[in-house]
Amino acid sequence: MTRWYQEKKKEYFYNEAKRKGYRSRSAFKLKQIQNKFKIIKKTDFVLDLGAAPGGWSQVSNEIIGKNGKIIGIDLLNIKPIDGIQFLQEDITEKSTILKIIKIVGENGVDVLLSDMSPNISGNYSIDHANSVHLCKQSLNLVDKILKDNGNFLCKLFMGEEFDDFIKIFKNKFKNVKLYSPPASRKSSSEIYIIGRNFLKK
Ligand SMILES: C[S@@+](CC[C@H](N)C(=O)[O-])C[C@H]1O[C@@H](n2cnc3c(N)ncnc32)[C@H](O)[C@@H]1O
Repeated sequence: MTRWYQEKKKEYFYNEAKRKGYRSRSAFKLKQIQNKFKIIKKTDFVLDLGAAPGGWSQVSNEIIGKNGKIIGIDLLNIKPIDGIQFLQEDITEKSTILKIIKIVGENGVDVLLSDMSPNISGNYSIDHANSVHLCKQSLNLVDKILKDNGNFLCKLFMGEEFDDFIKIFKNKFKNVKLYSPPASRKSSSEIYIIGRNFLKK
């Protein structure tokens, strides 16, 4: 794919996000993943990690309807959205995990989303390692708060630890798929891992 075409695609999703009132181009990635894998259902309780500026929370909100629930977490402040609880916290902090467990309660969440990205250094190996670290933090939360049979969507920057990481995923979910949505840039090393039907132990 040429650079010119990639720029056009980026511009297209930027304009579409503006036109439809989404806060990020990423909103279309979740829409495309949802269309294909149906990870979120009406009335679900969704936890959105790395939620700023709020695009995925907006898309989730449309799907779950007024009887569902969303909590969004990010290092950055997120402008309020009616009915969504946003927390400005670092997911790698133990205190954040404890706070989430307390808010979620013992019933747990139906869906855990993570679109978290580390600060990009430009060094492929470092960015990959930092991304794996964030994914492992999310997986740690999966064990603690995802309901049996629940779904997990996680962004990962590809690299050498991928094979080991995906093995952990396959132990935890009945169904694991990899997907690069059309709204992702072709030059990007990001891949989305979709774990469906969590096997809670
Ligand atoms: C690509 S953006 C998410 C876009 C979002 N899905 C949307 O549609 O608006 C990645 C986010 O991950 C967040 N992030 C990175 N590390 C984090 C951490 N340790 N704890 C919480 N959020 C983190 C960043 O602050 C950034 O806002």
